[in-house]
Amino acid sequence: MIDQAQQLRSLAQDRGHSVFGSGRCRVVTVTGGKGGVGKSSISLNLAIALAAGGRRVLLFDADLGLANLDLMLGVVPQRTIEDVSKGSCRLADILLHTQHGIDLLPGGAGVPELASMGSLSLVRMLGQLRELEDSYDVMVIDTAAGIGEGVARFALPADDCVLVCTPDPPAMLDAYSVIKMLCARQYSGNLHLVVNMLRAEGELERTHASLDRVTRRYQERGINLLGGIPYDEQMYECTRRQAPLLGMFPHGRCARAINALVQVLDGQSAVLPEPERRGFFGRLMDSVKRMAVTDAR
Ligand SMILES: Nc1ncnc2c1ncn2[C@@H]1O[C@H](COP(=O)(O)OP(=O)(O)OP(=O)(O)O)[C@@H](O)[C@H]1O
Ligand SMILES: [Mg+2]
Repeated sequence: MIDQAQQLRSLAQDRGHSVFGSGRCRVVTVTGGKGGVGKSSISLNLAIALAAGGRRVLLFDADLGLANLDLMLGVVPQRTIEDVSKGSCRLADILLHTQHGIDLLPGGAGVPELASMGSLSLVRMLGQLRELEDSYDVMVIDTAAGIGEGVARFALPADDCVLVCTPDPPAMLDAYSVIKMLCARQYSGNLHLVVNMLRAEGELERTHASLDRVTRRYQERGINLLGGIPYDEQMYECTRRQAPLLGMFPHGRCARAINALVQVLDGQSAVLPEPERRGFFGRLMDSVKRMAVTDAR
């Protein structure tokens, strides 16, 4: 029997393009650092708005420990990524087709972070994710709070990183910590900001200006302002009633703000240069393989 270290080394040596995606699917990772700032609400509604524009959209709940997009969509997954990681089914088997025009890859609750998942099951799972990539035009990935490895793995290979923050200083500081982490690891995709829960005139511009200024000064790049979303009880009401905002209040001010985000995103091309545009999971696989080799030593 081939030992695990040998399997990992041979995976790491496999640079063939057959295991990599075509790069056609644009990957938008939603993150932000601070908990509770609206990452999941924005991921969900951004995905629905993108699908309404005629795209094939996969929403991936990568907040693996505390996944809740299934709850927010009012669907009950029979199986989750936990079953995939145990090898009892394939990723394609757990996909949920929803009435909102998007497919959901449910994350499951209590699943260990990808970072702490065994390298072999991780590589196996990513191979299956790559197969799914070709079936979609856009993949929206909702991440956990924080700047841990589980977040970094999904942010670094993305075409677009959408940082969600609120206008208060702790949220801005946490958003900047994510920016610092991404820049330290040479993130080369688009960096966008969404300021959520706006309550006062000028908050959007002030929040963007502060983060953009400090990022330009210390990281030598800017942040694109994707847009702002007002604080509105409708958003909370949707979470409570387990129905997405764009379905429940399609003409409200939050829905209009979400649709505006999509228009700005549309105006930006995916900038990842070749050879990085080999497909999200190819790039993700690369980073996991590097980790696998380290494990195997
Ligand atoms: N613009 C808004 N106005 C009012 N409430 C909002 C708004 N955006 C989000 N919320 C509410 O804030 C709460 C947290 O939102 P959400 O779960 O999307 O945040 P999160 O960043 O994903 O949290 P976590 O870090 O725990 O994953 C929810 O109850 C949601 O309905
Ligand atoms: Mg969340």
